[in-house]
Amino acid sequence: MKYVEVGGVRLSAIGVGTWQFGSTEWGYGAEYNRTEAGNIVRRALELGINLVDTAEFYGFGRSERIVGEAILGHRSEVFIATKIFPVGLPFMTEWRARRSARRLGVELIDLYQLHWPSPLFPPRATMPRMRRLIERGMVAHVGVSNHDLGAWKKAEEALGRPVLSNQVLFNLVHRGPERELLPWAQQNGRVIIAYSPLGQGLLSGKYQDSAPSNLVRRRRGSFSAANRARLAPLIAALREIGARHGATPAQVSLAWLIRKPNVVAIPGASSVRQLEENAAAADIALSEEESARLDSLSA
Ligand SMILES: NC(=O)c1ccc[n+]([C@@H]2O[C@H](COP(=O)([O-])OP(=O)(O)OC[C@H]3O[C@@H](n4cnc5c(N)ncnc54)[C@H](OP(=O)(O)O)[C@@H]3O)[C@@H](O)[C@H]2O)c1
Repeated sequence: MKYVEVGGVRLSAIGVGTWQFGSTEWGYGAEYNRTEAGNIVRRALELGINLVDTAEFYGFGRSERIVGEAILGHRSEVFIATKIFPVGLPFMTEWRARRSARRLGVELIDLYQLHWPSPLFPPRATMPRMRRLIERGMVAHVGVSNHDLGAWKKAEEALGRPVLSNQVLFNLVHRGPERELLPWAQQNGRVIIAYSPLGQGLLSGKYQDSAPSNLVRRRRGSFSAANRARLAPLIAALREIGARHGATPAQVSLAWLIRKPNVVAIPGASSVRQLEENAAAADIALSEEESARLDSLSA
């Protein structure tokens, strides 16, 4: 496993995303939630992955509970990242952090992220509540998610200390973070956590002929027939580059992301096998030429 050391933390370049756990919208079913999800986390730890990302919102607490059960006895091996959804009043922050920690079975949340900018309360109302969690020893680092650079900086100002990370949509078909967020993170010792790094499966190439039917992806424009056709040259290049490395298109997509300094990726997985494949992507070293080719096909 490759690790990214930034801002006083050491994160596996490939983490595990757990929106899928306990979720109805992904539709993986009861057996997945009962056994496969926990196995995914346990296998991740065996493979040297330490970054596990969840949220109070995922499965309305079920994802945090599944993660909590899976990491029992392994606390020191895990960097737990969870998120608070921007609903409710800022004074509830501490109560909600305690609830997340209880579901996760931990005393300390390593990274507590504001899931989205609050539509109602400015950072000067939300961030001091987050700072208090650090002061009380409940949270080690504060992060944000889905914040543009201006909002990230405002969050830092209101927190009065670095906001370690920004978790954003970042993959070969959504490259927006490369414009401002990533250069700033690289210059200032912050981390970009790339979510949906596989485009929710699109970049695996397996949906080129027919789109997936579950609720999360059914109505996504990215899975439309027109978009899948538009991506054909990129998928072909991923296959070709993958063949050189004995890797799949999904692995090459992850390798393209994490070769960028200060970036970690948190793919979700529908099986232990996918998790193993994703973890192994950390060992793929793409050449400058291969990366540039993917850049030009995805611009
Ligand atoms: N902060 C936010 O607002 C936000 C938003 C979205 C996601 N997230 C976080 O980011 C994580 C990842 O994002 P995501 O789940 O939306 O998308 P993703 O990681 O791009 O895609 C995950 C899906 O891709 C497929 N897949 C995974 N590994 C594969 C492999 N090796 N080969 C082929 N297919 C593979 C699986 O679906 P199938 O097998 O069913 O095809 C899996 O459920 C989430 O779990 C969550 O923790 C955060």
